[in-house]
Amino acid sequence: MAEFPKLTDRPEWKALADHRDRERPDLRELFATDPGRAERYVVRVGDLHIDYSKQLITDETLTLLRELAAATGVFALRDAMFRGERINVTEDRAVLHTALRAAPDAVVEVDGENVVPQVHAVLEKMAGFAGRVRSGEWTGHTGKRIRNVVNIGIGGSDLGPAMAYEALRPFTARDLTFRFVSNVDGADLHEATRDLDPAETLFIIASKTFTTIETITNATSARKWLLAALADEKAVARHFVALSTNTEKVSEFGIDPDNMFEFWDWVGGRYSYDSAIGLSLMIAIGPDRFREMLDGFRLIDDHFRTAPAESNAPLLLGLLGIWYGNFLDAQTHAVLPYSHYLSKFTAYLQQLDMESNGKSVQRDGNPVEWQTGPVVWGTPGTNGQHAYYQLIHQGTKLIPADFIGFARPVTELSGELKAQHDLLMANFFAQTQALAFGKTAEEVRAEGVAEEQVAHRTFRGGHPTTTILATELTPSVLGQLIALYEHKVFVQGAVWNIDSFDQWGVELGKVLAKRVEPALTEGADVPGLDPSTQALVAAYRTLKNA
Ligand code: F6P
Repeated sequence: MAEFPKLTDRPEWKALADHRDRERPDLRELFATDPGRAERYVVRVGDLHIDYSKQLITDETLTLLRELAAATGVFALRDAMFRGERINVTEDRAVLHTALRAAPDAVVEVDGENVVPQVHAVLEKMAGFAGRVRSGEWTGHTGKRIRNVVNIGIGGSDLGPAMAYEALRPFTARDLTFRFVSNVDGADLHEATRDLDPAETLFIIASKTFTTIETITNATSARKWLLAALADEKAVARHFVALSTNTEKVSEFGIDPDNMFEFWDWVGGRYSYDSAIGLSLMIAIGPDRFREMLDGFRLIDDHFRTAPAESNAPLLLGLLGIWYGNFLDAQTHAVLPYSHYLSKFTAYLQQLDMESNGKSVQRDGNPVEWQTGPVVWGTPGTNGQHAYYQLIHQGTKLIPADFIGFARPVTELSGELKAQHDLLMANFFAQTQALAFGKTAEEVRAEGVAEEQVAHRTFRGGHPTTTILATELTPSVLGQLIALYEHKVFVQGAVWNIDSFDQWGVELGKVLAKRVEPALTEGADVPGLDPSTQALVAAYRTLKNA
């Protein structure tokens, strides 16, 4: 493995630390002294207008950050990823979610084999199936039309399709019902199915490995629910399909491999919703819209691969995160969409970012001695304004935030509901303004506020935000946004020298849960259980049996 000098010893890192110590950018002053800042600190890519003028940076900060990116080999690693090299070192795998949206005539090789034809073959198979379900040609076992689609999966096999289904609701077949079940809490499946007719319900079992306990447990319960009503094993073939890389396990579960939509080990779970994992979404929005979404992803892939550093949007967003997390001590990053349809967007990004970059070991196995991935959080903006924005405005923490908004409401809205969009967006712009520029004590006094109230009503400002604007939330724009964040996460992982594509941190809990379960169900002794957990398990059993 290539030698990677200690990040914090690099001259580029030290230059940034010196720069931070020398300059404390004040946004009011930066705008006052640089009239071109608002126009200059903008990147336009595809349908996205990305304004970073309200960031605590100067031209020098940007130059130094780009020098750090160059020194840490971000571009070389990016090219290796696109070429299909095994950059996921701990799992010895290629990282090729970008091949999922490659044009049909592109060539992307894994171990000498062009994978693009396979990708398009699966897309064709998905399109055929989605078309049959949407048209009513694919019927259930009793001949009834499928009216309900229930995706059962967890993590990357749930969050992506669930988020995208919500995001693209105006484009969905409104005569079909879509539900997403992930939690092993039986209440999830119960609530998702209690009002559905089994004869009209299709279950999509989404699991890359097909061994994930939550998914297999829910899928088994779903099969029982179906068979309790239809009383014929043959019904499974009409009501269950699988999305997986594991044909053997899919067959073992009783799903015909003909009803399996394949993907590959070079697609990470959290990077998979534009693979077969998106089948529920494709049924919802139709194959053409799905392809539009893939085009949106591809547009950003091409931009990330070819745009110069100065105007490379994922690079910029990644480096800004490094500036705050590594040099200005920010611990979290808020993503605040001003769109009801993006209600699950930040939850999706949490897995993308935190499962990718929540690491404390470098690619070569040495511990990191610098901060890595931030806590990513947020909900749709206007709701947040009446909940936690207080802390962003006047609390003690530095919280960089991305504001995502749209110039037009979805086409379905009309009349007063359509007119409400300007009010929504007035809030959007007002918040970033208030966060950046605040309100000085003098301004508060000038309003005649009593002196003892002045401090309470002062806003210090200087809270950094990026504003991402697009015309409308279309499938292509959604693809563009997701690819933007995928590559942002990539950039940060590359600079930090961590493997952004494994997730060993989730394993221990899984193993322990398997060990603890018999203690809960049968009261069995669990060897080696620590005293605290042992006492809790005993309390649980007492309460359960009371
Ligand atoms: O436990 C974490 C994880 O492996 C995620 O990375 C993944 O998206 C999720 O579980 C689901 O895995 P699978 O698709 O194999 O069921």
